[in-house]
Amino acid sequence: EKEIKVGLLGLGTVGTGVAKLIEGHQEDLIKQTGNRITIQKILVQDKDKKREISIDKQLVTDDPWEVLKDSEIDVIIEVMGNIHPTYEYLMFALEKGKHVVTANKDLMALHGAELLAMASEHHCDLYYEASVAGGIPIIRALVEGFASDRITKVVGIVNGTTNYILSKMSEEGLPFDEVLVKAQELGYAEADPTSDVEGYDAARKMAILSNLAFHMDVNVHDVEVKGITKVTEEDIRFGKQLGYEIKLLGIAKQNDNLLEVSIQPTMVNKHHPLAKVSGVYNAIYVYGEAVGETMFYGPGAGQLPTATAVVSDLVTVIKQMNLGVNGRGVVAPYRPKQLKSDDL
Ligand code: NAP
Ligand code: HSE
Repeated sequence: EKEIKVGLLGLGTVGTGVAKLIEGHQEDLIKQTGNRITIQKILVQDKDKKREISIDKQLVTDDPWEVLKDSEIDVIIEVMGNIHPTYEYLMFALEKGKHVVTANKDLMALHGAELLAMASEHHCDLYYEASVAGGIPIIRALVEGFASDRITKVVGIVNGTTNYILSKMSEEGLPFDEVLVKAQELGYAEADPTSDVEGYDAARKMAILSNLAFHMDVNVHDVEVKGITKVTEEDIRFGKQLGYEIKLLGIAKQNDNLLEVSIQPTMVNKHHPLAKVSGVYNAIYVYGEAVGETMFYGPGAGQLPTATAVVSDLVTVIKQMNLGVNGRGVVAPYRPKQLKSDDL
């Protein structure tokens, strides 16, 4: 079988999950692709850091060019996070004809259009399933599953950390700060958890989903954002007495060619399925003119759920390499003139 060589940018929560999955599921992956997957190089910040898994020291580097300029590497998996220097690394990799899989919503929400255009120009794949809702294949569902429909609304819980915090506050009466620390320990939170609790992470995910659902270039700055930092234990208790759970909802809806996208803490009736989404789980409703109402549910963050999305994207890239059709599924989003921040 032909070996596919992967360069891994990042060996934190998600990167470790990716390495575990490639090793642990190797035989199943070979059955699906006919290829053995080898991690050729891994970029980290601190080469001497103690790692959760044992990794051949020779593979690990803190020099990005050792990975990006390695001509044997076919696919770059980016799980290091941040906008810079990640954007520059991925633009370089795509320009050199390497396919890219990323879990980076910050980057895709802000620079997705440029990265996709670069991928398209160089006949490369760029997949980003793990950037939204962890282990739920929502991007595939929107791009492929609803390709024949006209989507009118996308509503859901798209941040695992805040749902974990709100659930623990509601179910166990625990204080906000204590639960946030636990979410960080479990690897759910972003490196800077401000983006979780202030709603920016959810805003980035809704910008990505809106791009795909409504075929518009929705930038993260177009999203109206309110996080959960002002939600008190008293608000949660009061809501419960009235029969409601407080959930951080992402809402994207199209009315008369105008798209509104927002993130806001919302009182959800306790009988509604979204009120029952607990812990790190996410749930997303997609409404289509023809299909009606659909719901997607699953773990929205964490090591292995997120790694499944990343490695599944890798499998898609490899299958397309075998067929010689990489880059053909990549469409850069566009911005129609009726959608401007001022309009919203
Ligand atoms: P993490 O645990 O903080 O890991 C980041 C990794 O990247 C670390 O190995 C770090 O090296 C390395 N790194 C960071 N900046 C670097 C730089 N400038 N140069 C070289 N190496 C660098 O992060 P994570 O939770 O795995 O998240 C990674 C990405 O996945 C982010 O974009 C995040 O938003 C996304 N994501 C995360 C989850 C989740 O549940 N955690 C879910 C979906 C998507 P050291 O190990 O040496 O510090
Ligand atoms: N910090 C993110 C969350 C990770 O809690 O949802 C998954 O994207």
